[in-house]
Amino acid sequence: MNFQLTNTPLSEIKADLEIILVIKQNLDHPFVQDKKLLKKAGFSGTQDETCLLIEKNRLYVGAGSLKGNDIRPAVAVAIRSLLGKKSYKSMKLGTYLSHPRCTATLRAMVEGMVLGSYTFDTYKSKKSKCPVKKVILSLEGYTKHEVSLESASRALHNGEIAANATNFTRDIVNTTPEDCTPETLAKIAKKLSKQHTLTCNILTPKALKKEKMGSLLAVARASRHKPRVIHLTHAPKNPKAVVTLVGKGLTYDSGGLSLKPADYMVTMKSDKSGGSAVLGIMKAVAEMNLPIEVHGFVGAVENMIGGDAYKPDDVLTSKSGKTIEVRNTDAEGRLVLADVLSYAQQEVQADYLFDFATLTGACVVGVGQYTSGVMGNSPKVVEKVLESADNAGELATALHFNRYLEKTLKSEIADICNISSTRYGGAITAGLFLSEFIDTTHKNRWAHIDIAGPAFVESAWGENPHGASGAGVRTMVRTLEKLSRGAGHNGVHGTRK
Ligand code: BES
Ligand code: ZN
Ligand code: ZN
Repeated sequence: MNFQLTNTPLSEIKADLEIILVIKQNLDHPFVQDKKLLKKAGFSGTQDETCLLIEKNRLYVGAGSLKGNDIRPAVAVAIRSLLGKKSYKSMKLGTYLSHPRCTATLRAMVEGMVLGSYTFDTYKSKKSKCPVKKVILSLEGYTKHEVSLESASRALHNGEIAANATNFTRDIVNTTPEDCTPETLAKIAKKLSKQHTLTCNILTPKALKKEKMGSLLAVARASRHKPRVIHLTHAPKNPKAVVTLVGKGLTYDSGGLSLKPADYMVTMKSDKSGGSAVLGIMKAVAEMNLPIEVHGFVGAVENMIGGDAYKPDDVLTSKSGKTIEVRNTDAEGRLVLADVLSYAQQEVQADYLFDFATLTGACVVGVGQYTSGVMGNSPKVVEKVLESADNAGELATALHFNRYLEKTLKSEIADICNISSTRYGGAITAGLFLSEFIDTTHKNRWAHIDIAGPAFVESAWGENPHGASGAGVRTMVRTLEKLSRGAGHNGVHGTRK
């Protein structure tokens, strides 16, 4: 999709189709030229409601307000309604509806276009791609105010990068477990590092053994697809901050010997969403060339059954030296993350440490399938993530730790248990388990983002399609953009160890 920003008035731009946003159901607005027809068609302009007037070459879509979080899904839904309609190759859209000094709406429009145009048809014989190749955004009206073409094109540029990175992540997550193995994830990371100015280090089983990642290796053991740990680095000169990202990359989670019931196993190709998000974020960071040192780690593993499978009752020795009593092999994500978090902290002293994981079904039960759960020991760091999520249009909420839940991870025979003794509060107890593997210097710099709900939903919602959403990517890109603008360091300067 090619974007063009212009000062040319909309009426003078030639395009196959015009998108018109109807704000707050106001059909009396002068930009709404087809009120009578729209009324006849039963269109009232509620959020995400569309009406295509074929003969007028106009597509109307409703949005609750001019806020980015209403505009982004509206534009995405409008674009999605054109899938398969091959004749609409170019389209024009006014930005005149935006707040005069605000480029946020413009960015949301661009993100909505790119996110809404996403299709995943790798396995379909008949492809149905988005027909729109060219989008002309008119700044008519806009330029009378204080928005320069320069700041508008920066908003466009960054919106495009963030949304394309999200689509990149969606593609990885949607790929089947046989086509996307730990080795595949490593190859994707390698390719990314070659295309961009990133460095890439891949740890193969031999290196993982050397690093004493006993916990990760146990989860990986029964699979014929051997594990990898990926480390991608974006290292600009004089970085304003150092940030470490860690992602759960379970290319398939069968549950292991604590086997998932058949219904629950379907969609578990999405258990690599955290790791795939990290890859997408690294792509965006490199393309924006942010003045931040960013390290992306992915624990790429498959959790399978077999004669060599790790078992409930096993005691594992993690990289940190802590021993873990396995009571459920389906609580494997935390076992992988424990070792990758230890490794990441050994390699990098960071100002911020964020991990992304489809960690618990409990998080989905607790907050619903569209929302991520954000946890950590520092309310300030958690708040930072929540604020960025809101700016990016992702739903996220804080889940608070407490000392009583912490005690439920106690083991009688090892240092800690991989599951809690209580059936309640599973998202938080999983977060508390991870917290045990965060060292004292990173304690108040860390946040854990459980994306089990929004990472993969089997019906379209807002700007997200059926399947993978790329959850976490836009939130973290916003966080890193914000850090680039200044208020960077979280106490001590981070360094590469
Ligand atoms: N990958 C799952 C969590 C999950 C569930 C992600 C649903 C996306 C949708 C994770 O490895 C898991 O199985 N967790 C268990 C933990 C339990 C055994 C303590 C769960 O949530 O049931
Ligand atoms: Zn599991
Ligand atoms: Zn899992």
